[in-house]
Amino acid sequence: MSLPEGYTLRRCTKADYAGVTSVLKVLTTVGDVSKDQFDQLLDHWDSVRIGQVPMYNNSVIVDTNGEVVATGNVLIEKKVIHQCGLVGHIEDIAVRQDQQGKKLGLILIQYLYKLAKEYGCYKVILDCDESNVGFYEKCGLKRAGVEMKIIF
Ligand code: ACO
Repeated sequence: MSLPEGYTLRRCTKADYAGVTSVLKVLTTVGDVSKDQFDQLLDHWDSVRIGQVPMYNNSVIVDTNGEVVATGNVLIEKKVIHQCGLVGHIEDIAVRQDQQGKKLGLILIQYLYKLAKEYGCYKVILDCDESNVGFYEKCGLKRAGVEMKIIF
């Protein structure tokens, strides 16, 4: 599976502020995030490491016009169990409405798997709505456990 011609997949940068905050609206409420807040977040994401491994790996797919059309993150967590193993948590996957159905979501997820594997994760997990189970099954994931939450 490859990206459409001229599209690129890379780590998110500060220049992606408008694109990322816009594309994420297909997922949930983004709020009124200022450019300063976004820049501070990127500084944080870029600074937190587990040894050489970046903990935050927010990634974007950019179209031929340089516009962000998809975004998603794999967070790397270091645990005690599994011999202080690393687990990847896939978070905040969003494909711009007019770009859905072109396999961009699948390509993005496969890229995040690749990063997690390269960083030494022994597994990747995520939570999603029932309506997205079919998508994640197409990405090779299997149902496991139950998501629970408490909202503050
Ligand atoms: N249910 C079942 N199958 C689906 C769904 C779905 N909701 N969405 C896509 N698929 C299938 C496609 O038909 C395709 O199947 P095929 O290979 O047989 O043709 C395959 O999954 C891959 O689809 P893509 O084209 O890669 O999907 P897309 O680029 O549209 O991305 C996504 C899917 C991310 C769910 C997108 O529709 C989206 O952004 N939705 C709104 C935000 C959202 O719900 N994000 C996920 C939140 S969960 C989380 O972040 C961990």
